[in-house]
Amino acid sequence: MSMRDDMIIAPSVLTANLADLSTDCKEAMEAGLDWLHLDVMDGNFVPNLTFGPPVIRSLRKALGPDAVFDAHLMIENAEACFQDYIDAGCNHLSVHVEAVKHLHRLLGAIREGGATAGIVLNPATPVEAALEVLSEVDLVLIMSVNPGFGGQSFIPNVEHKIRRLTEAINEQVAAGGRPVQIQVDGGVKAHNIAMLRDWGVTNCVVGSGLFNDRASVADNLTEIHQALN
Ligand code: DX5
Ligand code: ZN
Repeated sequence: MSMRDDMIIAPSVLTANLADLSTDCKEAMEAGLDWLHLDVMDGNFVPNLTFGPPVIRSLRKALGPDAVFDAHLMIENAEACFQDYIDAGCNHLSVHVEAVKHLHRLLGAIREGGATAGIVLNPATPVEAALEVLSEVDLVLIMSVNPGFGGQSFIPNVEHKIRRLTEAINEQVAAGGRPVQIQVDGGVKAHNIAMLRDWGVTNCVVGSGLFNDRASVADNLTEIHQALN
């Protein structure tokens, strides 16, 4: 099951074995997870480098059509290359509001290009940045760590942003507008995931909580599901 009480768990491949990425992704899919969170880093917007469209294209070939490729673009100038990520097989693109000049225009272009569109807010970015474009997005990603690395500690100060966003989305839906997922990324584990659901989160990225040396993805996921039950 990828959903438990309406919570999507999106495994972040950043803490998987990047030299054997498709094996780790298959393990996650066999455990019942069909969203895969692909952390794209350019060594410029964030101080780390991961992979880009060629690796994503190969991964799509290896995994087939069923996986939902959720690309978290931690890159400068996504305007110039977003279509390459869609063409490589991404279903969803999230772009950082801090890194995009013409956000409203880009969100429209992503959707026209064939993917769903999301925005990402760093820990120091006010929630108002998301409210301005709430009618244009399918997902808002609230970073609960500073982006760049897996395995960091959860920053609890995101609570007020998530609660404000939940209110605004409920208002939008009540007025007949688009439903929007709230995704949280960074330091999400079995011990805090139920709290996030209470705040209104519908989609959790989990990296080191799923891919680690302590247990298999399936066993770690069981612990997460128990926390949500
Ligand atoms: C951080 C990434 C996250 C990260 C999550 O820049 O966006 O997706 O890999 O890893 P954990 O769950 O270990 O914090
Ligand atoms: Zn991420």
